[in-house]
Amino acid sequence: PQVAFVNAPFSHGQPKRGTETGPVQLIKHGLAQQVETLGLSVDAIEDHSGFSVLENDTDIGKLKYPRTVSAATEKVYQEVKKHAQAGKLPVTLGGDHSLAMGTISGSLSAHPELCVVWVDAHADLNTPETTETGNLHGCPLSFLLGIAGDIPEFSWIKSQLHPSRLVYIGLRDVDDGEKRLLKEHNITAYSMHHVDKWGIGRVVEMALNDVNPDGTRPVHLSFDVDAMDPSVAPSTGTPVRGGLTFREGHYICEALHQTGLLVAVDLMEVNPTLEDERAVKQTVSVGCSLVRSALGETLL
Ligand code: ARG
Ligand code: MN
Ligand code: MN
Ligand code: MN
Repeated sequence: PQVAFVNAPFSHGQPKRGTETGPVQLIKHGLAQQVETLGLSVDAIEDHSGFSVLENDTDIGKLKYPRTVSAATEKVYQEVKKHAQAGKLPVTLGGDHSLAMGTISGSLSAHPELCVVWVDAHADLNTPETTETGNLHGCPLSFLLGIAGDIPEFSWIKSQLHPSRLVYIGLRDVDDGEKRLLKEHNITAYSMHHVDKWGIGRVVEMALNDVNPDGTRPVHLSFDVDAMDPSVAPSTGTPVRGGLTFREGHYICEALHQTGLLVAVDLMEVNPTLEDERAVKQTVSVGCSLVRSALGETLL
């Protein structure tokens, strides 16, 4: 299919500015041309505005910048929806991970049978009640699963992802409230402990078997670059040691491509303003190669 990049320059789902420069740095690094080299056609890259910070966006309960996040993620929803319904493969470049409220809602609008593979150090499952930080990048999945409670500002989210269609890989920093929610909703999660125990090959196989036993469901990959070990991808806002190696991260993307079922990819939380120049280059370059692997780049 044709690839449509959705550039989402947005950072207000978390407190560190800079992730809004992620998309432009990934494109500057040559991502679009690299994807064309794989034999895929790429939609014209649109310059998206409208990710501005709303005035008087006071907290709702603990939630910070709620209306700003809602507006940005709804915009990404419309954009991903448009491309997905046109049969294109949207690749959303973040931006912080609150944007997944939009990308996954967009995918669901075109592919109701969708399952989600969420690759992350974090579960991003907090509800407005359980969040300890109030940062919405720690909450997108509670909205998508419909367990966030009724927040009128986010009423555009139809929350139609069933918990049995979500699987995690790479977790290692999960809040107590999130641990309770994982159990309560019976959500399958492979932490770094499982990657150590079984190896990435078996983990991906088991993960796909859990959410997609018949191999018929379309797959949305939401990849938070902080799933990678900080030695591999240092320029991100919430790094956690003990992460995926370079190969483990790429293996996940390659294996998902091989299913032939990928319908959308998110690459989130690249922050080119954190750490030194060398670290930034390394992180941007890893971000590009993860996307290429998901789109079919092979080693042989
Ligand atoms: N669990 C923490 C929180 O709720 C950290 C979330 C980090 N999320 C991310 N997308 N990097 O704030
Ligand atoms: Mn577009
Ligand atoms: Mn994360
Ligand atoms: Mn995340």
